Amino acid sequence: MFIPSDCATISAKQPHQEREREREQESGEPQLAKSEPEARAQIISLARQYARQFHPLHDFDHESANFVKGERVSYAGRCFDEREIAALVDASLEFWLTPVRYTESFERNIAAAIGVRHAFFCSSGSNANLLAISALTSPQLEDRRLRVGDEVITVAAGFPTTVFPIVQNGAVPVFVDVTLPTYNIDVSRLEAAVSDKTRAVILAHTLGNPFDIAAVKSFCDRYNLWLIEDNCDAFGSEYTLDGQTKPTGSFGDIGTLSFYPPHHITTGEGGAVFTSNPQPRRDFAQFS
Ligand SMILES: Cc1ncc(COP(=O)(O)O)c(C=O)c1O
Repeated sequence: MFIPSDCATISAKQPHQEREREREQESGEPQLAKSEPEARAQIISLARQYARQFHPLHDFDHESANFVKGERVSYAGRCFDEREIAALVDASLEFWLTPVRYTESFERNIAAAIGVRHAFFCSSGSNANLLAISALTSPQLEDRRLRVGDEVITVAAGFPTTVFPIVQNGAVPVFVDVTLPTYNIDVSRLEAAVSDKTRAVILAHTLGNPFDIAAVKSFCDRYNLWLIEDNCDAFGSEYTLDGQTKPTGSFGDIGTLSFYPPHHITTGEGGAVFTSNPQPRRDFAQFS
């Protein structure tokens, strides 16, 4: 490659930071601190100021959320303040587009919040459901492995991507009806749905209302079935089983979350699949 000699001389004599300083002075841009930590702190501080000035109130307004017949029902809204803006700017300055420190700490915090050992961040709640079912196809699971043609029990009226991963893995969804008003599984119909091909049950806690975990879990234990809790709508919901109250998502073998904006917390797009079992945890990484 041809490099003109004057260019080569300039870059040798003028290190990048020096050239940048000259450029700032010429353009009238604000001076950036010399060291990286100082420059970062300066930018984050400006971002916080920006948030206070231009996003003054992004807390959910419960007053205006009161229902007025005939008017639009506001069930949610953007809730954030300068801390979120500062964290976004901090992460973007590193420009790691793959999972690094923020993702790792997020995974640890999600696992702790649910009360499980491992959480794996992924691209959506739908992806989390796909990873959950796909992990069950691992040959390492031997007799309990989900194979093509096996059956997975789910509900007839639920979220589509609770069902699609069953079909995507070549298994057969077996639909059980729901009850009103919760739209959760009618557990009285579980026995009629089981066959010698049934390997797993995947159910959502619809709109945050836990399904009858006691009945579903004892059914799964009785027939040695995997239980996947689609917890996408239920982050923060709790259930009491045998006198112990725990977060939904922690009762089954695998649980999932969605962080798409209408959910309880958001990462923009995003989801998580979690478990206390080390085997599926390895498989989430392999299938993702
Ligand atoms: C019960 C349930 N499962 C799965 C999903 C899929 O999540 P995502 O939109 O992040 O793919 C949703 C999304 O709303 C959901 O409500």
